[in-house]
Amino acid sequence: MTEISTSLLNIEKGKETEIILNLEKAKTDYFHIDVMDGKFVQKNTYDKTREISEYIKRISNLPQDVHLMVENVKNAINDFASVEPNIITFHLEACKDENEVIELINMIKENHIKVGIAIKPNTSVEELFKFLPYIHMCLIMTVEPGKGGQTLISDMVEKISILKKYIMENNLEIDIEADGGINLATCEKVKSAGANILVSGTAILMARNYANIIEEMKK
Ligand code: DX5
Ligand code: ZN
Repeated sequence: MTEISTSLLNIEKGKETEIILNLEKAKTDYFHIDVMDGKFVQKNTYDKTREISEYIKRISNLPQDVHLMVENVKNAINDFASVEPNIITFHLEACKDENEVIELINMIKENHIKVGIAIKPNTSVEELFKFLPYIHMCLIMTVEPGKGGQTLISDMVEKISILKKYIMENNLEIDIEADGGINLATCEKVKSAGANILVSGTAILMARNYANIIEEMKK
C-alpha cells in the first residue's frame, strides 16, 4: 500500500496553519520535514524546520517523517527527538565510517523513534545493504538533496528496483521512500520499482486540490 509523505520545504510563508490542516484533511500519511544545515547542503532550514515540527506536534496527530540533511547528525537527533517524530532519517554520506552509522541507528532507537538511512544519487545502493537488518526505511534521493522543485533523475528508478529485489530476497521488512521530483507522471515509475512511501512537495503544494493528487498518487 503506497503512503504519501508531503514535504513542507516550500510551504508558503504565513499560510502554514491553513496548509497543514488542509493536508491533514487531504489525508497525507506523513509530513516530511526537510532539515538542512547549510553545510551538508547549501540551504539552511534548521531553525525553520524545528519551529514547524514543534508546531505540527501541537496542532496535528499526523506522524512526522524527519529527513536530516546535516553534517552533525547527533545534534539534530537530539534537537528533533523532542517532537517525537515517527522516523528520523540521516544520510549515509554524513557518516565517517560503519561504526558511526551503527551508533546513530542506536541513538535514534534509544529515543524510541524509527530509523531511516538516506543515500544521495551518486551513492550506490549496495552501500546500504549491511545496515538493512537494523533499520526501518531506506530513503532513495531521486534528486540531488538541497532543494524542492527539481526533476526526478530517472536512473534512480533502477536503484529502487535493485534495493527492492535485495529486500525481498532477504525477507526483510523495510520501507522504501522515494524523495524528490515525485508527481503524477513520475510516481508510477518509482512505485512499480518498489517504493512504498512517496515524498512529494511541489506537486502537492502547487495542486488546487490536495486530496485529489494525494489519492491519485496512492493508487
Ligand atoms: C530535497 C528534499 C525533498 C524535496 C521534495 O532535498 O529532500 O524532500 O523537498 O520536494 P519536491 O517534491 O518538490 O521535489
Ligand atoms: Zn526530503
